[in-house]
Amino acid sequence: MWALMTTPTREPQTLEEWYVRSAYQSFVRQEGAPLYEGSALEDLATLPVADWERRGGKVAYTRLGDQEDRNLQIVEIPPGGSLKPEHHMYDSIMYVMAGSGATSIWQEGEPKRTVEWHEGSLLAIPLNAWHEEFNGSGTQPCRMLFCTNMPSTINHYNNLDFVFNNPYQFKERYSYDMERFMDHSKQWNIRTLETNFLSDIRTMELDPYPERGNRLAVMRMSMACTSIGMHVMGVSEGTYVTAHRHLAGAHVIAIAGQGYELMYMEGDPERRKVKANPYGVVAPRHNEYHQHFNVGKGEYRMLAFRSTGLRYGWGKPFALARGAQSQDRNAWLYSIPFDREDPSVREDYYRELEKNGVTLRLEPLAQGNA
Ligand SMILES: [Fe+2]
Repeated sequence: MWALMTTPTREPQTLEEWYVRSAYQSFVRQEGAPLYEGSALEDLATLPVADWERRGGKVAYTRLGDQEDRNLQIVEIPPGGSLKPEHHMYDSIMYVMAGSGATSIWQEGEPKRTVEWHEGSLLAIPLNAWHEEFNGSGTQPCRMLFCTNMPSTINHYNNLDFVFNNPYQFKERYSYDMERFMDHSKQWNIRTLETNFLSDIRTMELDPYPERGNRLAVMRMSMACTSIGMHVMGVSEGTYVTAHRHLAGAHVIAIAGQGYELMYMEGDPERRKVKANPYGVVAPRHNEYHQHFNVGKGEYRMLAFRSTGLRYGWGKPFALARGAQSQDRNAWLYSIPFDREDPSVREDYYRELEKNGVTLRLEPLAQGNA
């Protein structure tokens, strides 16, 4: 079925012939799809996508943040259309940006289970299980994004037949016997939710997270035992979050409200300001500072995919491990507290709020938080 284009048809004779682009980049080229790079895209809902011969519909891929660990696969299904079934050895989490429809999930030899979704739904595709998507409308296209670890998986094996035609069934992750797979939901701790499907993450309830900024709320999710970490984060009206930086791989997608992101590397003379209304995405490069600002009425809400899963930590439950680490430059996350922030950041924020007639609701800087 698959012939990997990086496999040379003859033995390479020169360094130029021997050194080839990554298997992931070759795969995207083979799909006939655009590959979007950089560290921000302003609107995934209107991003041009190409006809997709392999599954039908239309598709585009990203390589954001100068990394090939996580990506986004942007998919559109025409009215009344569907995507051909596939299964694969990478994890995939679907978020619906427009339209409504259904996904069937099954293991080879087992009956199918089908879940219906619409804009705002988040669904985990279990590792290597078959899945097939249908547009539920005869008049409107539907568009979704899949956050996956496809790049690292394809690069690791460098063999598309292994990745897409592997018969292994991870039945501990999904089997037809798991009757409640689509309904499963258990909140293990504050900001710690295990689930496989959420009907609308734009309106789901979040838990408070005062350590990271005033009036901030978060829910972290573990879905279908995936190693992809993710959370939904809400920034209240008239507030913003402290600047922070970390390893590349995180993708933050605006899903509700009106905001902007500041992005810069240490020592950059200017900060880049990225408009981040739904459905913009920022995926910072390694150690690129980023900072979320709500400038609209009501909450500014984001869906974030991160490089480490919630359940499979490094020995300390994630939800309990936060605390004094924000001052530690060697910690996985380094943030700049409000009282050490360049004053121009807040001055610019005041101006943005004024334009929109929104009142600042942060505490005075003297009472800034960590
Ligand atoms: Fe971040």
